[in-house]
Amino acid sequence: MKNFYITTPIYYVNDAPHIGHSYTTVLADILTRFHKLIGYQTFFLTGTDEHGQKVQQAAAKRQVDPQTHVDEYNLRFKNLWNKMDINYDYFIRTTDADHKQFVRECLQKLWDKGEIYSKEYEGWYSVGEERFFSEEELVDSKDPISGRPVEWLKEKNYFFKMGMYQQRLITHLEENPDWILPDYRRNEILGFLKQPLNDLCISRPKSRLNWGIPLPFDDEYVTYVWFDALINYVSGVRDRTYENGEPIWPASYHLIGKDILTTHCVYWPTMLMALEIPLPKHVLAHGWWLTGGSKMSKSSGTGVNPMDYMEQFGVDAFRYFLAREMVVGQDCTFSDDAFKRRINSDLANDLGNVLNRVHRLVLTNFEGKLPKATQIDAPAQELITLANQVKEQVFSGITQVKLSQVIEDIMSLVRGINRYLEIKAPWKLAKDDSAKDELATVLFTAAEAVRLSLCFLWPVMPTKTIEGLAMLGTTCEGEKDLHWGKFQGGESFGEGNPLFPRIEVEKAPPPPPKTKEQNKPILATDVPSLLDLRCAKIISVEDHPDAESLYVLKVDAGESEVRTICSGLKKSYSKDELQDRLILLFSNLKPAPLRGIMSMGMLLAGDGEEGKAVLVAPPANTKIGARALFKGITPSESRELKIKDFDKISLYVKDNTIFCNDNRLEFNGTPVSCDVKDEASVH
Ligand code: ME8
Ligand code: MG
Repeated sequence: MKNFYITTPIYYVNDAPHIGHSYTTVLADILTRFHKLIGYQTFFLTGTDEHGQKVQQAAAKRQVDPQTHVDEYNLRFKNLWNKMDINYDYFIRTTDADHKQFVRECLQKLWDKGEIYSKEYEGWYSVGEERFFSEEELVDSKDPISGRPVEWLKEKNYFFKMGMYQQRLITHLEENPDWILPDYRRNEILGFLKQPLNDLCISRPKSRLNWGIPLPFDDEYVTYVWFDALINYVSGVRDRTYENGEPIWPASYHLIGKDILTTHCVYWPTMLMALEIPLPKHVLAHGWWLTGGSKMSKSSGTGVNPMDYMEQFGVDAFRYFLAREMVVGQDCTFSDDAFKRRINSDLANDLGNVLNRVHRLVLTNFEGKLPKATQIDAPAQELITLANQVKEQVFSGITQVKLSQVIEDIMSLVRGINRYLEIKAPWKLAKDDSAKDELATVLFTAAEAVRLSLCFLWPVMPTKTIEGLAMLGTTCEGEKDLHWGKFQGGESFGEGNPLFPRIEVEKAPPPPPKTKEQNKPILATDVPSLLDLRCAKIISVEDHPDAESLYVLKVDAGESEVRTICSGLKKSYSKDELQDRLILLFSNLKPAPLRGIMSMGMLLAGDGEEGKAVLVAPPANTKIGARALFKGITPSESRELKIKDFDKISLYVKDNTIFCNDNRLEFNGTPVSCDVKDEASVH
């Protein structure tokens, strides 16, 4: 029997869970259910990270002792997982006695092996931030974050000889190219490992932090929270086995967000190497959920609260949205519009439609008993072929954790059934007495395809799919139900109500009809008034998964509009240099796909030295979304431009500011600058 052990991060219990935590946990739940369905032995571990400074501070803020705090707050996660149909096998808390005991055993083992040593550390210490800063990091001799005074502190600490494992880790990553997924995250870690790897400080003196596991070899210290937390993945399954008695470790997948890549891909494997414990098989890092342009987090309490959508539209619709909308690895924006559009089109329309049609026609024409097919004609055969093909895609997609793709494949089958019904029009056949046999074939074939689709979707929507299957008088029990041909005819259909009612959406006013103006060809002289150049802010930078020279940027274009833009800036800027930067966005450029990713606009840069691009810089206090205008030119009615329209004019730089003909580009009278030589062009 094949084994599948999956973990989520253990979440900090400093505040309420949000969409980000829900996503990772739902993803783990879906993958577990899929593997269980296809006959694996599975184990799914989640839990809470209850030690460390963040938690101690959260407790202090509430004026309760940390133990009381964590006992209360871990329940927020447990309760939410219950509500969301998360079927974990074990919920670990790092304050569990057996976990604490195991962490101490690990530390003792490393200490005995000489993998841990103590060292005096001197530096500028900020009481406010509870950490050391180097001389260079200080601002005006003060803490650069809080601006408060720092003191020179000399402190003994314990260090794990992480640096010793650098080469072994690199070799491991080279020999196992799919150890970190997706591959651009692996490249990030390999890049990080080009620098010398430092040893890891694994202790905190109790005088500074006492909410932690005491070091077994020095009572004056507690264990650094990550050293404690990562070990949960082993301690949580140490005394457990699969049903057939096989050990559960090593994990098949650690699912994490990209925020905790280094801890999982550098600290953790080197710790395991030192402990002589086998490494997990894969670490899979997904991207971030964004709302209104920034990373969704506990502290950003603004705008839409995605969790409200679960309350309002149901757990299964919410799980479906999370799993379908985010491409594993990439960032994804949550918006009201995206949610409603997705649920209406996929669930209310496509899936709801096929199920209701088949159900109703069998009820009204065959007294609720599924008729047998008589002869399989070409359209029926086509549907069967499609179903078999989708089955293959689902099986292979799941083992590669391409969840949004798998769901899309299943929906292509659902749409195929709708097409089949449109072609055969069983509602017409039902009115023709001589077509009873043909009607039977259509309903039988369509019902089998709907049954299969619902079974494939069961891991994603465990309640609604079972309700849907019950309408068809069947269930989903395991691998055997995932193949064409379960229905025999004669099954008794159940009662049914629409599974996914349409969400009423306030209709946007229809777009104004295209005026004659809009159809007129665009002349060079029109372009300056048509160019819609806006101040935007870069909120994330990723490598393009499929093009060496491109970044994929997410930019905030104002009014909570986040756009994806592919840009060839790699030669000119590092990711850090781009993060949070204001840029000038050519926002009415016709969207175009660049190696598979839709680019919604373009950012402007000037030609710098050595072929490098220099970003055009809006003045520092420009409002995001504000429009830049050419002095003396009145903007005209908005209209999409093509790149060839933009190429009809030339933008150039004079005195570090941008011109078109003799008209200077300005935000409210302040010129827009670009730090390149006079006469350099901007594009
Ligand atoms: O880091 N988008 O806990 P944490 C997507 N205790 N996923 C998100 C997200 C977002 N905006 N925000 C959070 C910790 N997540 C440590 C982990 S593991 C040994 C210790 C998810 O409460 C994502 O999985 O900050 C991310 O890695 C995790 O929550 C961080 O949770
Ligand atoms: Mg975090």
